Amino acid sequence: MHRFSVKDDLQAQVAAWKAAGEKVAFVPTMGALHEGHLSLVALARTHAQRVVVSVYVNPTQFAPHEDFDSYPRDVNGDAAKLASAGVDALYTPDAAQMYPGGDMQSPVQAGTAAAGLETDFRPHFFEGVVNVVYRLFDHVKPDVAVFGEKDFQQLQVISEMVAAQSLPITIVGAPIARDPSGLALSSRNAYLSEDELVVARQLNVILRRVASGDIDEAQASEALIEAGFAKVDYVAQRWGRVLGAAWLGKTRLIDNL
Ligand code: PAF
Repeated sequence: MHRFSVKDDLQAQVAAWKAAGEKVAFVPTMGALHEGHLSLVALARTHAQRVVVSVYVNPTQFAPHEDFDSYPRDVNGDAAKLASAGVDALYTPDAAQMYPGGDMQSPVQAGTAAAGLETDFRPHFFEGVVNVVYRLFDHVKPDVAVFGEKDFQQLQVISEMVAAQSLPITIVGAPIARDPSGLALSSRNAYLSEDELVVARQLNVILRRVASGDIDEAQASEALIEAGFAKVDYVAQRWGRVLGAAWLGKTRLIDNL
């Protein structure tokens, strides 16, 4: 596996692959990789001869009170997992590569898919995501990019941004990877204690009850509090999905189905 931290070096390699007639699929991540990320890599592999993964914890998608500083980071562990998964290149830019001269102004805006849900609670989030994803797309120049359906609204926002900017990139959504109990895999699960994990496993169970028509969104919010969640940001239906976000202590979990 190649490792690049400088945009120009990565671009030279990607250009060489493309010149040889190979397609390039890209999986952007913030690291702390788990089986969910590796399922994105496996899906990317079915779309292209070459797979590039980035690991970059993007400051512009965190509000000052959020977990940017404490977000789990293990780039050497990540690199070992990606090498075992047969990834062709790992891109680990630093802030100077992503935001040259410290200019964090976004070249693009998030569109209508960003309205509501996450934005009601994390108003800065999608502007930060489209900012870094647009820049990463410019660095990697992939043919295909794979995003997990766990962040379903993010997938919609990015698809909309790619269409609005007429970028020649096919966006692919990857099914949510879950543990045997149904809990969606997430880097933030690493924050949870054993007791909190027991509660966390109720999130998908309760959202499933909404999907089956057993309870409505308000009843689901009550059921989540009864199950032990500290606070529910939302349970809502959109894009043919039931989506939820709820807090366990200082950890915010999202899921949808
Ligand atoms: O989904 C994520 O991990 C991040 O939002 C992304 C797409 C890598 C942008 O930082």
